[in-house]
Amino acid sequence: MRLEVEVLATAEEIGRRAASVVLDELAAGRLRTLGVATGSSPEQVYAELAAAGARWDGVEVFALDEYVGLAPGHPQSYAAVVDREVREPLGLDASRVHVPDGGAEDLDAACAAYERALEERGVDVQLLGIGATGHIGFNEPGSPFSSRTRVVELTGRTVADNARFFDRPEDVPRRAVTQGVATIARARRHVLVAQGEGKADAVRAALEGEVSPECPASALRTFDDVLVLLDPAAASGLTERPAGPRRPRPVPAGAR
Ligand code: F6R
Repeated sequence: MRLEVEVLATAEEIGRRAASVVLDELAAGRLRTLGVATGSSPEQVYAELAAAGARWDGVEVFALDEYVGLAPGHPQSYAAVVDREVREPLGLDASRVHVPDGGAEDLDAACAAYERALEERGVDVQLLGIGATGHIGFNEPGSPFSSRTRVVELTGRTVADNARFFDRPEDVPRRAVTQGVATIARARRHVLVAQGEGKADAVRAALEGEVSPECPASALRTFDDVLVLLDPAAASGLTERPAGPRRPRPVPAGAR
């Protein structure tokens, strides 16, 4: 088991480092399936992957989650986000990009089908963000480490955090389909990226708190091969300082 934490100065550096893991696997012929997260955290990773101009022949992409209850084609549905931020820039064929069906009439059957597809393909590199609640995917606190793809209720905190993507707070879905913690755990490698002060408590709980479903991201410490990439603000709650550039020490007023 390997868990490495690196603190990098900017979102761009985080994007480059995370992309290099994916591109190295691709170049070595070991990337058949890439797991993608949506949201703000991995945007630079996708920009770097697109800029690399690599050939993605044969690579399948699986998203972590999808809202339940949005109209088909809604621009903030994760199907639309993955299409815009991953499929199009990388030039992937739509048939190779998979997002849970949050609009299925039988959601349980759709979850089971998604879980089966993931089990059959296996994810080589899974990109992850972390929520302020400590969620990975949409596995909110209390999600068992044995959980699989299923319908979940989002916490009030997550709904509030995601309101920035919607015109009105009441438009934010309250439910989602998400890969479970055990589903995510099956990936061969995981790369989690986090930026900003708002993630500091969750990052600290995940890396230094109890390994417990109360912080689903703490499950990372039970996975085989994990790289955590943080900016100084997201790392600011850690007591054991990891490698990488530190937050610059404030210059005392008298020394300026
Ligand atoms: C999204 C997902 C979530 C986000 C997390 C952080 O597919 O699975 O776990 O990664 O909510 O979101 P951002 O990056 O927007 O802060």
